[in-house]
Amino acid sequence: DPEAYQTVFDAALAADERIEPRDWLPDAYRASLIRQMAQHAHSEIIGMQPEANWITRAPSLRRKAILMAKVQDEAGHGLYLYSAAETLGTSREELLDKLHSGRQKYSSIFNYPTLTWADVGAIGWLVDGAAITNQVPLCRCSYGPYARAMVRICKEESFHQRQGYELLLTLSRGTPAQHAMAQDAVDRWWWPSLMMFGPPDDASAHSAQSMAWKIKRHSNDELRQRFVDICVPQAEALGLTLPDPDLKWNEDRGHYDFGPIDWEEFREVLRGNGPCNAQRMSQRRRAHEEGAWVREAAAAYAAKHGKAEA
Ligand code: 3HC
Repeated sequence: DPEAYQTVFDAALAADERIEPRDWLPDAYRASLIRQMAQHAHSEIIGMQPEANWITRAPSLRRKAILMAKVQDEAGHGLYLYSAAETLGTSREELLDKLHSGRQKYSSIFNYPTLTWADVGAIGWLVDGAAITNQVPLCRCSYGPYARAMVRICKEESFHQRQGYELLLTLSRGTPAQHAMAQDAVDRWWWPSLMMFGPPDDASAHSAQSMAWKIKRHSNDELRQRFVDICVPQAEALGLTLPDPDLKWNEDRGHYDFGPIDWEEFREVLRGNGPCNAQRMSQRRRAHEEGAWVREAAAAYAAKHGKAEA
């Protein structure tokens, strides 16, 4: 009796219990989780490209090792999230096919170019910092496999954010040219990082339902504000400025006021017209094609030796 199942589901949500793969759950809840988890995974995988661009050109062995570890982590986060999404009855193949055919998205932030080494620091500090602000509440998401995946991902994300901050601090305290390079990177990555949190609440298609299902625990604007409040003092500690003349502490609100976001730019990037959309997608499709032999070999091995051993 679907009515009874819905009642049990609603009671579990109300009691802040975890919904697990074997539980009955509404089709719309399943579909929205697959949508969000798949796009989260796609973001991790595409997000490897901007940073990988600098692995061969890192300024020291130490920086190279850190960056390689971070890019490998992002791949792992992607695979972790695809596995969590598969518990909802979809498959990695199906999700990747949707990414490659443009039927599923990845985060807008990865459609911007990494023009200098300082971009690696700006991405760690701002992009991974925004990801942490968004992902910590997801550790309390109602769907068990997603929430548990977030716990481990958040731990690794803190290292990503820390290394980026430290990289920028080194440059900021370096020669004037190094300071200028760090400032230029922050100037280019600040506003796109704020767009990672999604459209304004009054333009968010999924927020109300997502919050009713306790998937989204805070609104897009709430997390965006939390991120701004965290970054302003950090920028001061870095000796760098943020490219927003309207940034100002508002005693009444207990938050920083900040300037308007260019939502037309956001919509253009989501339409596929960002600086690097075409390049990111062609690189992703090429990697998938070039990796076909690995998938075929693994499948052949599994067929020959039985799944368990593979
Ligand atoms: N880039 C691309 N698409 C975006 C977006 C962005 N920055 N912000 C919103 N959108 C899309 C949504 O996916 C939705 O489109 P869809 O219906 O086709 O999925 C539409 O815009 C409307 O936005 P909503 O606010 O209604 O959608 P959500 O309720 O899903 O909120 C979200 C958007 C806050 C991104 C939410 O999906 C979320 O929290 N996702 C999980 C976190 C995530 O995906 N982070 C990616 C950041 S990169 C990363 O984590 C890698 C790290 O290692 C650096």
